[in-house]
Order: sequence, then structure tokens, then C-alpha cells
Amino acid sequence: MTTLKFVLLLIVVLTFVTVKASNYDDEMTYEPSDDICNKCNCTNVNGTLEDGESGTLFTLDCSMKDYERIFAKWPEEMGDNHTGIELIYILSLSKIQFLQQLPPTDATLFFTCRHCNIIKIASHAFINTPNIKLLDLSFNNIESLELFPEIFKGPYSDEQLAPIQLQTMDLSHNKISYLEKILFEHMPYLKSLDLSYNPIDIMNEQSQQALASLLHLEILDLSHTGIMELPGAILENKEKLTEIFLNGNKFLEIPESLSAVGESLEYLHLSDNPIEEIEETSLIGLSELKQLNISGLLQLTEIKKNSLKYLTSLEVFHCFGNVKLTNFDMEDLRELKHLKELDISNNALTTLNFGVILENEDAENLNETMQDIMGKYEDQFKMLRVLKLAGNPWTCDCDMMKSLSLFNHNASYFTKSVNNDDARCKTPYDLSSKLLYDLPMDYVCITYARQKSQKIPIYDPPQFLRPKSIMLTVFSVVGVVVLGIIIGFTIVCIKRRLKSNNDLSYSSSPIRYTTVRDSTISNIANAPYNPS
Ligand SMILES: *[C@@H]1O[C@H](CO)[C@@H](O)[C@H](O)[C@H]1NC(C)=O
Ligand SMILES: *[C@@H]1O[C@H](CO)[C@@H](O)[C@H](O)[C@H]1NC(C)=O
Ligand SMILES: *[C@@H]1O[C@H](CO)[C@@H](O)[C@H](O)[C@H]1NC(C)=O
Ligand SMILES: *[C@@H]1O[C@H](CO)[C@@H](O)[C@H](O)[C@H]1NC(C)=O
Ligand SMILES: *[C@@H]1O[C@H](CO)[C@@H](O)[C@H](O)[C@H]1NC(C)=O
Ligand SMILES: *[C@@H]1O[C@H](CO)[C@@H](O)[C@H](O)[C@H]1NC(C)=O
Repeated sequence: MTTLKFVLLLIVVLTFVTVKASNYDDEMTYEPSDDICNKCNCTNVNGTLEDGESGTLFTLDCSMKDYERIFAKWPEEMGDNHTGIELIYILSLSKIQFLQQLPPTDATLFFTCRHCNIIKIASHAFINTPNIKLLDLSFNNIESLELFPEIFKGPYSDEQLAPIQLQTMDLSHNKISYLEKILFEHMPYLKSLDLSYNPIDIMNEQSQQALASLLHLEILDLSHTGIMELPGAILENKEKLTEIFLNGNKFLEIPESLSAVGESLEYLHLSDNPIEEIEETSLIGLSELKQLNISGLLQLTEIKKNSLKYLTSLEVFHCFGNVKLTNFDMEDLRELKHLKELDISNNALTTLNFGVILENEDAENLNETMQDIMGKYEDQFKMLRVLKLAGNPWTCDCDMMKSLSLFNHNASYFTKSVNNDDARCKTPYDLSSKLLYDLPMDYVCITYARQKSQKIPIYDPPQFLRPKSIMLTVFSVVGVVVLGIIIGFTIVCIKRRLKSNNDLSYSSSPIRYTTVRDSTISNIANAPYNPS
């Protein structure tokens, strides 16, 4: 009997201990939630919310407090009824390795936890916060294995699984190498996804399917992920995709698959890729594109003719810092009627030629020429407000002047935007380092051309082939030769003189010595050696 009693007692005690322990554990899981607003920074303002309606905006800023866990409740200051409140919860720069389920609220939630050291996220983490709109978990240590669909599961209502409202998710600067096929199944409203600075490298089948499932996506950031291909599957049925970041990757050419989103794509970021050429077909179909960035393509040598003509909506064209870009047929740019900003600085371009053709090509009167250009090309570059040409080895010829004058119908913006720019001529050599904008057209096209035509060579030879250099070289050579001859001659004369002097002054020296020297100097060839 006593043993039975003892066993029962033991069981009771053990149960009690375990219950106690698990309670304790539960409490430890979350940060104690009394006095939150004393621990963190709460602000509560009435104002205009994101949707344009007025309401309460509550900010709970717990960043830089080194918390290891999140709070179990929301601050009392928020009241009991969170309906219609916008809640901004910031936990950045904490030590939360495990992100737990967020406490329940029906407020519209914007949750940010950057630099939080997050490795794991709880399953159903957002089930009690279905109105979460923004989730920023950038700069953490999340790996692909720790990113699974159940994390984002929404609540059941009417026996149905309701999705969470997530629209913006930032997972940049993590350790994600692939995405699970159905990762996004509980967030059908996702509009913006940032995966930049993750080691994706190769977009596997699963990741492709995951991205393909996001039908409402508007912004996709895949920059700095090491990818070199953009599989077409990702872009199928993405009717709302307006912006895609592919910069800082390993693309060797502009991905063909982009044409699938040609109807919607407005911003395309392709800078810092090893692209070598822009082909005529590279940008086909991108008729809605407003901004194209192909800067910093260190391998780019050529932008082929006709390759830009499809971009009929283009407003901003950034094409700078392509240090090998020498071939660029710019006539295409004239077709871009909406162009507002053109940056082709710091490339290796020499010719600026929009193919301006004049009726009276040899017009003596520059006013006529200008009028001709203004009339004929009136509607070209009408919208252009920023033009950057600096850092190229420009050849300043009349074609360039005529092309530049296309921008001139609105001289005010032209001078304004290029003031601090140093676009200078590299050649011809006597215009070298002149500022493009300081060069009067009549000087280059008439005065200078006339001077040149008198001296014939319009062709501008390299430095060492220019007449001046050649003359200088010839003169130097002749000078050196003459000098050499004179010096040589003088030395011989002096020697002769010395010798004859010697003959005189050393007349008393032994005869035999004199004879030998004499014979060797004057008669080396003929005189046989005479040791007498
Ligand atoms: C609290 O947040 C407000 C608004 O963001 C800021 O102006 C204030 O300096 C913060 N206070 C502290 C103590 O961090
Ligand atoms: C916001 O407005 C409500 C009433 O609409 C009011 O009770 C509350 O005190 C206001 N809060 C702030 C911070 O002004
Ligand atoms: C909470 O507030 C909203 C409006 O702000 C109101 O429509 C709703 O009835 C309130 N809910 C409760 C339980 O008081
Ligand atoms: C284009 O890319 C370059 C280099 O990455 C960057 O400096 C520039 O700000 C970008 N321009 C636009 C309009 O995004
Ligand atoms: C060119 O036009 C300007 C004003 O637009 C005028 O002052 C100048 O006399 C004209 N020159 C010639 C040669 O017609
Ligand atoms: C010049 O620019 C101004 C505004 O910057 C604009 O109103 C005007 O129409 C432009 N003129 C021409 C000829 O494009």
C-alpha cells in the first residue's frame, strides 16, 4: 500500500512540476508585456492613413533594445479595439533568433525586423495578424530550409482557410538559395517581393514555380542574387509586373523572357551585369518601358542599331559607366518621343551623331542652318530635360554640332542641366579639352572647317603622325646627325692637331716608337707591320 501511495504521490508531484515547467516555459517564450510603452517608443497619432482615410496610426518602436523575444501582447495604449488602426511595429537591431507567433490584432500591421539575427520563424507566425500588409525581414540569417509555407498560414474563418493580406515582403540580405514550390500559397495578394542579396545563383524548378504562383506581383527584386538566367516560367501571366530588378547579376545578355511582361513592365534595372552587346531584338516588345538602366556594364561594347526603337514610352535612359562602349548608333534615340533624361556619360563614345541632314548643307549663313534644323527636327527631344555627356572621348566635328543643336530649341534646360558636367572634346587635337557646350557651331562647322580644308587633312591623324610632329621629328633627326658630324669632325681635327703637336714636341722621343704609331694610323690597310 505504501508503495502505491508513494507512486501516486510521485506522479502527482511530477505532473505538477511538468505543468509548472511548461507554464514557465511559455512565459519565458515571450517578453513580459507590462509597460511596453515605457520600454519601447510608442507614438499614437491621428492622421491620414495609407489608404487615404483618416484614422489612428500607432507606432511601436522597439528597435535597438537588444530584445531576444517579442512581446506577448500589444501595448495597453492601443486600446482593446484595434479595428481600423494602422500599427507599425519595428524591432530592428534586436537579437531575436526565433521569431514567434505575433500576438493577435486585427489592426493593419506593418512589421519590420531588420538586422534581428533571425534564423527560424514559427509555424503560423502570422495567423493572429491576418491584416499584416508589410513584412520586412531583411538582413537576417534565414535559410531556404527555414522558409516554409506554414509560416504564412492565415486563420480559419467559416471553416475556410483565409489568406493573410501581405502585400510587401522584403527578404533581402538573407541566406535563401531556393524557394519552396508552394511557399506563397497563403499570400495571394503579394505585390512586392524583394529577394535581393540572397545566394540564389541558379533558379531551380521549385523556385520558378514559387515565383510563377505570384499572379499579382508588381515589383520583383532579384538583384545581386548571382543568377544568369531568368526562366520564362516566372514571368508568365504576370499582367501587373511593372518593375524588375536584375542588376548586379551574371547575365550575359538581356533576358529574352522579359518580352512576356512587355505590356506592363515600366522599370527595368539591368546595370552591373556582364552583358556584351545589346542586340536588335534584345528589347523587343517592351513598349511600356519608362526607365531603362544599363549602366556599369563593363563588358558592353556595342548597342546595335534599331535596338532601342521598340521602347516608345521610354522617359529615362541611363547608360553610363560602360567603359568599353564604343559603338552606339544614336539615331534610334530620336524615335523616343517621351525621353526626358539621357545619361550616356563615362562611356568610350567618340561620335555623337543623330544623323541630322540639312537641305542646304553648305549654308554660309549659320542662322539658316539653325533654322533648318529647328524646323525640320522640331519635335525631336522635345521632352528632354537632362542630358549627360561627360567623360567620353568625343570627336568634335560639325555632325556633332548639328546633333547637339537638336537639343537646343530649349536652351534654358540645356545649359542648366549640363553646367557642372564636363563634356569635352578629345579630338581633333586643336579642339581637345574644349567644353562641348562652349563650342560655337559656326566655329566648328564654318571657320574651323575652312581652316582645315585649306590645309587639306580633315582626317585627324594620331599624335605622332601630325604634320607638326613629323616636322619636329625630322628636324630633330637632322639636327642630331649634323651635330654628330660636327662633333666627330672636330674630334678628328683636334686629334690631328694634337698628333702633329705631339710629333713636334716629342721629336726627341725614340724613333722606333714614332714609326710604329705612324704606320698604324696612316696606313693600316696597305702598310705591312714593320717591327723594325
Ligand atoms: C520616438 O519616436 C519618435 C518618432 O519616431 C522620435 O521622434 C523620438 O525621438 C523617439 N524617442 C526615443 C526616445 O527614441
Ligand atoms: C484621436 O481621435 C480620437 C477620436 O476620434 C480621440 O479620442 C483620440 O484622443 C485622438 N488621439 C490622438 C493621439 O490625438
Ligand atoms: C471597433 O471599432 C470599430 C470602428 O472603429 C467598430 O465598427 C466596431 O464595432 C468596434 N468593435 C467593438 C467590439 O467594439
Ligand atoms: C542605374 O544604375 C546605376 C548603377 O547601378 C545607379 O548608380 C543609378 O542610380 C541607376 N539609375 C536609376 C535611374 O535607377
Ligand atoms: C542671325 O540671327 C541673329 C538673331 O537671331 C541676328 O542678330 C544676326 O544678325 C543673324 N545673322 C545673320 C548673318 O543673319
Ligand atoms: C521649353 O521648356 C519649357 C519648360 O521647361 C516648356 O514650357 C517649353 O514648351 C519648352 N519649349 C520648347 C520649344 O520645347
